[in-house]
Amino acid sequence: MQTLHVALGERSYPIHIGPGLLGQPDLLSPYIRGRQVMLVTNETVAPLYLNKVKASLSAFQVDTVVLPDGEVYKTLDTVNLIFDQLLEKRHNRTTTLIALGGGVIGDMVGFAAATYQRGVDFIQIPTTLLAQVDSSVGGKTGVNHTLGKNMIGAFHQPRCVLADTTVLKTLPTRELSAGIAEVIKYGLICDQSFFAWLQMHTKDLLACDDTALGYAIKRSCLAKAEVVAEDEREGGIRAILNLGHTFGHAIETHEGYGNWLHGEAVAVGMLMAVDLSIRLGWLDASELEVLRRLLEQAKLPVTSPTDMMPEDFLKYMAVDKKVVDGSLRLVLLEAVGKAIVTSDFSHDALLATLKSI
Ligand code: NAD
Ligand code: GLY
Repeated sequence: MQTLHVALGERSYPIHIGPGLLGQPDLLSPYIRGRQVMLVTNETVAPLYLNKVKASLSAFQVDTVVLPDGEVYKTLDTVNLIFDQLLEKRHNRTTTLIALGGGVIGDMVGFAAATYQRGVDFIQIPTTLLAQVDSSVGGKTGVNHTLGKNMIGAFHQPRCVLADTTVLKTLPTRELSAGIAEVIKYGLICDQSFFAWLQMHTKDLLACDDTALGYAIKRSCLAKAEVVAEDEREGGIRAILNLGHTFGHAIETHEGYGNWLHGEAVAVGMLMAVDLSIRLGWLDASELEVLRRLLEQAKLPVTSPTDMMPEDFLKYMAVDKKVVDGSLRLVLLEAVGKAIVTSDFSHDALLATLKSI
């Protein structure tokens, strides 16, 4: 097991990464302050891993909520089901919520923890690659609105993140690929050598090779932990973690939540960001092909949905959280491994990118 730390003063927490971590009581109990635990998962993950986690919590009063599975259920109505159980089972302010699942469960449980009785503890047990490298770390929690992705939420840090790489063996390949998109993101925004490593090892990640997965998760979490420690509430630098996301969120919202996976939409969004960076003269034209090949290797899409016109993108992008005073800001690349947040692009260049990808 390897342990990284997210350094946030009194809200600091560990990220444990390794095979076979689920079911080890000693890894969870130090982060549970009271006697009560609400373990939240979904219908797909419950039959696979719920009992194992529950068995490791025998020292506590454990109640469970099994939610429906899918991005389409990442809503306030679904979060309300968690509140129903917390109140019915009389959970008090010292309760700890545990999110067992992918990013959808993690985001909703985190939001429930941020708001139940004005804030209680929670622990992340991410079970998808995407959640292990990104969504479980950093404290962004929330739900979707029909008019925009992740538009309702709160910052609320977990007390601990437990990333058991063994659980990735049951993940469908399409979901593994979606997670690889976020891994590629870290190479592009802050680590050129990791980006080069990915060109050699993406096939190992797809084959669920433990060593490759362990390295990629560790490298990704390290990058995320550093950025979050510097800018927890996204006043500045943290926005670079959203490379490709402004385009990607537009795809997810337009196509209907769940039809394009988050990572798939981000993959196309990253191509758009690279394309625009090339148009601005910041990147060499060859980088577009390098990224396209890598995404194809990872079995990710490389063109935007056929039913989506540039004006559709512009409509959704106008409500992005990075819009300030009506001005759209995007995460672009000054070089591979060096991202910036900028509004320094012309509408014509953006339009040309939207048309070409
Ligand atoms: P997901 O949570 O929908 O999980 C994908 C699918 O895999 C689901 O069907 C799930 O039930 C299933 N699953 C999960 N673990 C499994 C396992 N071990 N074996 C078999 N099946 C398993 O999707 P995701 O990609 O994990 O997360 C996407 C969500 O994360 C989006 O809503 C996105 O907005 C959010 N996100 C949040 C942040 C953040 O910082 N909070 C960052 C990135 C993404
Ligand atoms: N996934 C973007 C962030 O956590 O800031």
